Amino acid sequence: MTITHEAELDGLKAIGRIVANTLQGMAQAMEPGMTTGELDGIGRAMLEAVGAYSAPEVTYDFPGATCISVNEEIAHGIPGDRVLQAGDLVNIDVSAVKDGFFADTGASFPLGEVMPRVARLCRDGRRAMEAGIAAVGHGRPLSGIGKAVGRFAASRGYTLIRNLASHGVGRALHEYPEEVATWPNRDRRRIHRGLVLTVERAGRDGWTLYAEPRALAVQYEHTVVATDRGALIVTRPG
Ligand code: CO
Ligand code: CO
Repeated sequence: MTITHEAELDGLKAIGRIVANTLQGMAQAMEPGMTTGELDGIGRAMLEAVGAYSAPEVTYDFPGATCISVNEEIAHGIPGDRVLQAGDLVNIDVSAVKDGFFADTGASFPLGEVMPRVARLCRDGRRAMEAGIAAVGHGRPLSGIGKAVGRFAASRGYTLIRNLASHGVGRALHEYPEEVATWPNRDRRRIHRGLVLTVERAGRDGWTLYAEPRALAVQYEHTVVATDRGALIVTRPG
């Protein structure tokens, strides 16, 4: 969507805070021995408590309130009876709707102590997303997001795999601009004032120098509004 009125921004900020708080609450609640289904139940209860509905459930009949992906699963993991263990890398993606406004956020969290390479993967995954967010602003090219992420990745010795794209959001979970590449690309579209989109970056250590049979994957995602002064991140807890 493109925000033209203050009331629209308020609606988007409200659902942005809700998904961010839910993500944070789930991350704090997860512990070894819990199933991904139980963790999803905590997220569902948090959404329900504030009158919000799971966006993947409403939009796609997704079998869960949130997406929970563990270790080698890149994204869109279905919550179920997988038991979380210490040392797991858990990705939680929360998108929800309230009063007709949609927001989408996600992050990967280590459960307990993890190896240094896992901590590094998390840190760099988040920084790759932040590099993409820094390229958002009125009048700037959509391709700038992928370019910035690509530059960051190259500087750290990563080769980007082309998987999850960013996307427009706001009045639906996925809307214009669809398929915003977060890797170097030739997209000719421009970002305009008020445009609401996600910036998400997924990666796995298989695309680094590691040749592990079981590559770990991380994903980070925020919903942002393009302004004259850059990106306004609406999916922060508060
Ligand atoms: Co998304
Ligand atoms: Co998402």
